[in-house]
Formats: sequence, C-alpha cells, structure tokens
Amino acid sequence: MQPFKFFRESNLRKFFAGIVKNFCRNIHNIITLYVIIGENPLKVGIKMTEVNVNLGENSYTISIGKNILGGVADFIADANKFGDKALIVTDTNAFKSGTSDLIDGFARRKIMFEVATIRAGETSKNLREADELYTCAIECGIDRHSCIVALGGGVVGDLAGFVAATFMRGVPFIQIPTTLLAQVDSSVGGKTGVNHELGKNLIGAFHQPKAVFIDIAKLRSLPDREIKSGLGEIVKYGIIRDAELFAYMEDNVEKILARDEDVLEHLIKRSCEIKAEIVSKDEKESGLRRILNFGHTFAHAIETETGYRKYRHGEAVAMGIISAAFMARELGKIDEADFLRIENLIDRLGMLTRCEDCEVEDLYYATFRDKKIIGGKIQWVLPTKIGHVETFVDISEKLIKQSFAAVLD
Ligand SMILES: NC(=O)c1ccc[n+]([C@@H]2O[C@H](COP(=O)([O-])OP(=O)(O)OC[C@H]3O[C@@H](n4cnc5c(N)ncnc54)[C@H](O)[C@@H]3O)[C@@H](O)[C@H]2O)c1
Ligand SMILES: [Zn+2]
Repeated sequence: MQPFKFFRESNLRKFFAGIVKNFCRNIHNIITLYVIIGENPLKVGIKMTEVNVNLGENSYTISIGKNILGGVADFIADANKFGDKALIVTDTNAFKSGTSDLIDGFARRKIMFEVATIRAGETSKNLREADELYTCAIECGIDRHSCIVALGGGVVGDLAGFVAATFMRGVPFIQIPTTLLAQVDSSVGGKTGVNHELGKNLIGAFHQPKAVFIDIAKLRSLPDREIKSGLGEIVKYGIIRDAELFAYMEDNVEKILARDEDVLEHLIKRSCEIKAEIVSKDEKESGLRRILNFGHTFAHAIETETGYRKYRHGEAVAMGIISAAFMARELGKIDEADFLRIENLIDRLGMLTRCEDCEVEDLYYATFRDKKIIGGKIQWVLPTKIGHVETFVDISEKLIKQSFAAVLD
C-alpha cells in the first residue's frame, strides 16, 4: 500500500503561489485575496438544472450546470445549519481541475475551510486515509454542525463520504463530483465506503449527502479514458430503465466523443434522474435498487481478477454489460437485434469490449465472492429488452462461463 500523502493547507499555498506570502486559513486573508486577484466573486445568471432525490428528511437536490461551484457556499450559508466551517477533501488531480469558484464562494460567504488533498487513485480508498482525515477533521474543529465537502471522483466521494458518515456518528457532507462516473453514479445515492485488503468496498455506510453539485466544466480536464469509464454507467441506465436515453446515445455518438457539453449535460441529467428515482424508491437496496447492479456481477469479477488496476470501473462495467446481454440472449430473454444494438453502441463509443489476461475459470469463481450474493445465490440482472431488466437466479455454470468467454480475447 502506498504511504499516505496528505497536503492540507500547503496546497492552497501553492494555489496562490506568488500572490501572498503567508496564506493561512483565516477567512480575512482569503477575502484580501479578492482585492489582489481582482475577481468578482459574485456570479449571476448561471444556468442550472435541478434533480431531486426524494428520501423524506434525507432528501436533497442535485444541481447540474457549468461553473456553478460558487453556489456551494451559498447553499451552506443559507441552510444555516452546517455552521461556518468546512473540510474540503479532494485529490491531487481534482484539485488541479480548478477550485477558484468554490473557494471564492467560501470567502464571499465567510465560511472557514481547510483543504485536505489525498493522493489520486483507488489505493487511497482505505481506512488509513480515513484515519488521517479524522485527524484533520478534529484538528480543524469539524463537528456535527460543520460540513465535509468531497471534491473529486468516486474515490474521493466514497472516502470523504465514509469519513462524514462515521466522524462523530455522522456529519453533513456535500458531493462535488468531478469525473463523469462520479457525476452520473457514485455521488448520488448515499453509498460511501473504503476498501479492505481482502476486498473492495467491504467497509461502508449509507450516508446521504445534503446536496450534490455537478459542474460539467470540470470534465474538460478529464482524460478520455475516464470519460469512457463514465459512459459505461450511462449505457447501463439506458438499458435498465430508458430506451430513449439509449437511442439518444446511438444518435449522438460523435458528439459524445467530441465532448459536446449540451449532449453531456443531457446524459448526466437523465442518468441522475434515473438513479434518483431508483434510490428514492429503495434507499438501502432491498429490492429495486439491485437493478443498478446490471453488468456489475461480471464487472466485479473482472476487476477482482485484474487487481483493480488494469481496467477503470466503467470499462469493466461495459464488458459486464456485454456478458449480461449475451447471457440474456442465450436464455432467450432478449432478441438478437437488441443484443446487437447493445454490443454496437459500446463498440462505437470506443469502449473496450474485450478483456485481456483473464481466465474463464478464475472469473467464474470470482463471481461467487461478490458481496451482493443473497443466500448463496447470485441475482443475475439481465435485460429483456432495451429499457427493461429482470432478475434471474440459478444460471448454469456452463452459461456463466460462456458469458464471460463472450468478452475474453
Ligand atoms: N458510492 C457509489 O455508489 C459508487 C458507485 C460507483 C463507483 N463507486 C466508486 O467510485 C470509484 C471510481 O470513481 P472514479 O471513476 O471517479 O475514479 P477516481 O476517483 O479514481 O477518478 C479517476 C481519475 O480522475 C482524476 N480526476 C478526478 N477529477 C478530475 C478532473 N476534473 N480532471 C482531471 N482528472 C480528474 C482522479 O484524480 C483519478 O486519477 C471506485 O472506488 C468505485 O468503487 C462508488
Ligand atoms: Zn458501477
């Protein structure tokens, strides 16, 4: 495991390097910076779409738009119950993608904050890093009336969310997802957690955010591979719930690959609406929410067998979707035409459709170590047509292996 790398306020110093000598956490110093930089912190006329996640007293709003992060501080200040202090958790790449909107907002609304920057990557999602964040939270006086802000991809969101869920038995937290995968999936729904040496996401808690802010502009610095990883989850939403979304993707492949921001915004909004609807009906995954695992039984086996290093999560999901569609076709649950549409879309989007370095036998046994198994039986979420899935059990060993073989080289 990599040693913990924790920068905290020193990154802020780098951020404002050359502008001030002794930048400290004190809010007055930050306000002074406005004068020096000459930025107008108040942004008006920013277009934003909102999606509500209806969970009774745990309800929250997902705000989607471009350059909207100045609104985070307004939300905290106007809610008037998260105190005047925040711990922003981010990673080295997400931090570089730009934090000025966010930080300007905190200064404008006089909210004290501290930035904790973790090393980018899945290896940071562990209890050791969580422990460092607890220390940081204690040192900077975070309590139940303060708030933890996750600025980053799914790794930051899961880790910071877990810290927020467990620190002082739960403090408020806000998600600012900066990868496509986090914007369409991991930031919504309240699943938080860290990995254990013996398995992924084995330690966790449900803890809903108070708000989610999705800034599409943050995707501009995201590498292509990460965009494609997010697309894997969006294709999933189309297949499980929305044939129109699927057809929209088919009609807009070129624009998607060119990162047309209107198209991306539509995909993100629709994905959030679908996830919000499912989570609202089944917050703790006792039924309906399981359909979100479509493609994931296969994907988790691929990720486990490749040590979580070779493939991005969404890449494994795309391959898992093909395996699940193959299985459905062999069982006569989905017709050939829909199966081919699924395979073609994934291919046209430039996502991987072949898994290297895996053996069918190993993948088969890995599926039985998945934590989603209920009573020893794997729940196979399979498409019966584009836009609809059903759950099946008791699939033969032979067919499971054939379905894995469908994506092996
Ligand atoms: N909680 C849930 O419901 C849920 C759902 C799906 C996935 N997950 C978890 O999410 C994690 C994967 O999330 P991910 O794919 O976002 O990975 P990630 O957080 O590792 O981000 C991917 C890479 O992009 C970088 N990055 C982030 N924002 C950037 C930006 N704006 N510009 C440039 N680079 C940027 C990160 O530093 C990282 O290197 C996994 O740990 C997975 O278990 C959780
Ligand atoms: Zn997923």
